[in-house]
Amino acid sequence: MTQEHRQKSGFETRAIHAGWEPDPSTGSVIPPIFATSTYKQDGVGGLRGGYEYSRSANPTRTALEATVAALEEGERGFAFASGLAAEDTIVRGLLNPGDHVVLPNDAYGGTHRLFDKVIQRWGVANTPAALSDLDSVRSAITDRTKMVWVETPTNPLLGIADIAELANVAHEAGALLVVDNTFATPYLQRPLTLGADVVVHSTTKYAGGHSDVVGGAVVVRDLDLAENIGYHQNALGGVAGPFDAWLTLRGLKTLAVRMDRHCDNAERVVEFLTGDERVDHVYYPGLADHPGHDVAAKQMDRFGGMISFRARGGKDAALQVCDRAQVFTLAESLGGIESLIEHPGLMTHASVAGTELEVPDDLVRLSVGIESVDDLLADLDQALG
Ligand SMILES: Cc1ncc(COP(=O)(O)O)c(C=O)c1O
Repeated sequence: MTQEHRQKSGFETRAIHAGWEPDPSTGSVIPPIFATSTYKQDGVGGLRGGYEYSRSANPTRTALEATVAALEEGERGFAFASGLAAEDTIVRGLLNPGDHVVLPNDAYGGTHRLFDKVIQRWGVANTPAALSDLDSVRSAITDRTKMVWVETPTNPLLGIADIAELANVAHEAGALLVVDNTFATPYLQRPLTLGADVVVHSTTKYAGGHSDVVGGAVVVRDLDLAENIGYHQNALGGVAGPFDAWLTLRGLKTLAVRMDRHCDNAERVVEFLTGDERVDHVYYPGLADHPGHDVAAKQMDRFGGMISFRARGGKDAALQVCDRAQVFTLAESLGGIESLIEHPGLMTHASVAGTELEVPDDLVRLSVGIESVDDLLADLDQALG
């Protein structure tokens, strides 16, 4: 696929073809897993295709990186061993001691832990702010703010932030806008086209899509940013290995069809939960009364497969639903083909207990998979008791 062809083709075509030309020597349609750490040189410095050592570059990883960049409509993509390795590379590449970051006040717990417990020790301060409220973001910005970090939708409360507006606010302050696009995926939302500078992913989730690999990705448009991230990817070394890159790439090829089914099923589950008296409140940006619905409708193509709800009956009722569910598997993580259920307060978000990011203890989070939707509805019905 030529560069011109790549730019013009549709999302599904790019997902399947963008990162790889059938191998000239064998015709291999799918990129092989290049399980090699090093590459023969044709004389000192005579690299074949730029490959020298697999921390710096590996052809399987290159195919994944090109595909992620094409889907996010960026110039360069970078693949990492995990979402947090990707985040750490952004932070250490783009921030210096004395800088300040505005974080979502309901950020993913691991992101908050990275900034608050690790990066802070190296002299980078942070302030959590309600990103759906631009005034709250403006008042959190200081003359040292170099980065505004956005999740939308957020994990686990499904809050929505206006990416284009936040890009303006960040840029006016001379800061970069980083968007964690894990929940929406590029199939539903493309932050770089809305003004964001950096997109980051836990590819462990929808991108990989089969709960069989942990990974992360970064995509940028600006070539100076690309050089910075590429340098730090190699210098820090938290890269995706070739097996993991291959699995993630295989997942990405079907992202569009999977996301459509995740969204179809989630819409049915939301309809069921909102009409059920055992449920107190449903968080889903597709609901017309969700405070971020209009912004979500503007910047997302559909509203995704994640739903949270509060169980009437408090924490015990929430724990009971998690325990009783059978088709929904009780497990952390999200974005795979199978439906998962969890209690964020005691599981994924336990690390933010006692901070201003603490989540309600009657909250249940669902990652709606692509099983037969009637089975999912029947399971929730029996689990709610
Ligand atoms: C929104 C979000 N960002 C980042 C991460 C971290 O990614 P990983 O677990 O792949 O390190 C997660 C993990 O749950 C997440 O949900």
